[in-house]
Amino acid sequence: MISKNSSRRGFIKKAVGSALATAAMPSVLLGNDNRNVVELKATPLEKERYTANEQINVAVIGMGIMGHNNAATTVQIPGVKLVAACDLYTGRLDHAKELYGKDLFTTKNYKEILDRKDIDAVIIATSDHWHDRISIEAMNKGKHVYCEKPMVHHIEEGEAVIAAQKKTGKVFQVGSQRVSSIVTLKAKEIFESNIIGDLVLVETWTDRQGPNGAWEYSIPTDAKANTVDWDNFLGDAPKVAYDPVRFFRWRNYQDYGTGMAGDLFVHLFSALHTVTSSKGPNRIYSSGGLRYYKDGRDVPDVMTSIHDYPASDKHSAFNLQMRVNFVDGFHGSERLRLVGSDGVITVGWGSVKVERSITPKAPGYGGWDSFNTFSEAQQKEYEKWYKEKYPAEKPTMVEPGMEYKAPEHYNANIDHHLSFYNGIRKGTPIVEDALFSMRAAGPALASNKSYFEKKIINWDPEKAKLIA
Ligand SMILES: NC(=O)c1ccc[n+]([C@@H]2O[C@H](COP(=O)([O-])OP(=O)(O)OC[C@H]3O[C@@H](n4cnc5c(N)ncnc54)[C@H](O)[C@@H]3O)[C@@H](O)[C@H]2O)c1
Repeated sequence: MISKNSSRRGFIKKAVGSALATAAMPSVLLGNDNRNVVELKATPLEKERYTANEQINVAVIGMGIMGHNNAATTVQIPGVKLVAACDLYTGRLDHAKELYGKDLFTTKNYKEILDRKDIDAVIIATSDHWHDRISIEAMNKGKHVYCEKPMVHHIEEGEAVIAAQKKTGKVFQVGSQRVSSIVTLKAKEIFESNIIGDLVLVETWTDRQGPNGAWEYSIPTDAKANTVDWDNFLGDAPKVAYDPVRFFRWRNYQDYGTGMAGDLFVHLFSALHTVTSSKGPNRIYSSGGLRYYKDGRDVPDVMTSIHDYPASDKHSAFNLQMRVNFVDGFHGSERLRLVGSDGVITVGWGSVKVERSITPKAPGYGGWDSFNTFSEAQQKEYEKWYKEKYPAEKPTMVEPGMEYKAPEHYNANIDHHLSFYNGIRKGTPIVEDALFSMRAAGPALASNKSYFEKKIINWDPEKAKLIA
């Protein structure tokens, strides 16, 4: 095993090496703030051709915004064919045929898809309240499953999904694409070099501005009881009369969605756990409120949360501050900032930056300090004493920062889908499997529990379970 120090030296050598080689290497640019900018390389999709027998037939269940996005991504993977789509609104099935041809099998009943022997894998992109049920039924019917995040709607549902994955041995991956992103993986490499010293704090947020970002999605004018299968949509949710707003903006209602935490905290947890190899927090507290979008929703539009992460063999103990704000007052932003004793790693969707400022061992004197209040004689005396005590004192070392950028049109979703199909074809281990996903969904859903019940939640990160 590489010691922390040797891997750190290796990283610094590589980082500084490429910084020094700026002039010689076309991929290393100098940012306008004197940061060294390196372009990350995306792995090109393999050109291999597969025979019809080797083809993986996939179906999308839940052909809404993300279902369409997943379909468009998945058909780019060599040897994968989209053969069926399921949705509860006629217009989305019609559009799937417009995009993928008249031969695409479409249905409003997902069981018809699970019953088809020629379908190898399903992508589940329904509203959250169907995730566990369709995932479990699909694995039991022999299908590999790519399920959108969050893996479950309620914490209690996690165990059964983990058990189904174990029992069936099917490939199961959840859809937080950041887990497979070249940016996240670079951040992981940087973090593991220990270049930022001891991790003490993580700040992460997703802030948005505008109704669309706050889930007020368009409702088609032909949404009627005969184009929307409302009874089927409700599933295990309480029976209420047909309401197109609840159907097309389901995220706003706890009966079908998981609020800001289930929708967006989950992405942040998945990225953080990938970078740090952490299993999760053990103590969770949330606050927030419904401040602006008073459109009938029963979830907050501002949510802040603090999470205590215990030390593990991969990182020191740290505190996490997490926030989602749909009323940003500006144009919104998203970050994951890992703050260590010797530097900061800042991860965005398209780039990761590392900046170092090493905490000096010598305390220093002068400036905003009590030294200036001493008598002149004492100041002289103190200086003499200080120089004897700290003969080799160096000022805080600030190194030029490094930034690693994904290529302009890089799409992490492609790498995440590729990971799923590599799992099926080659048995490549899946990072975002059921247990990993519950370690992300659990603290997110526990954040909701804390918010609604106004209390601190204790969580077992190893078992991914609530502590009573
Ligand atoms: N990974 C990401 O970046 C990302 C981004 C957006 C959404 N998502 C996730 O994708 C899922 C879908 O979100 P969306 O924004 O696409 O929602 P959406 O409302 O646009 O689409 C959901 C679709 O699911 C269908 N559906 C619901 N229950 C069904 C059932 N029982 N059988 C068949 N179809 C059913 C609905 O008809 C609807 O068209 C959510 O879980 C969300 O968290 C992930």
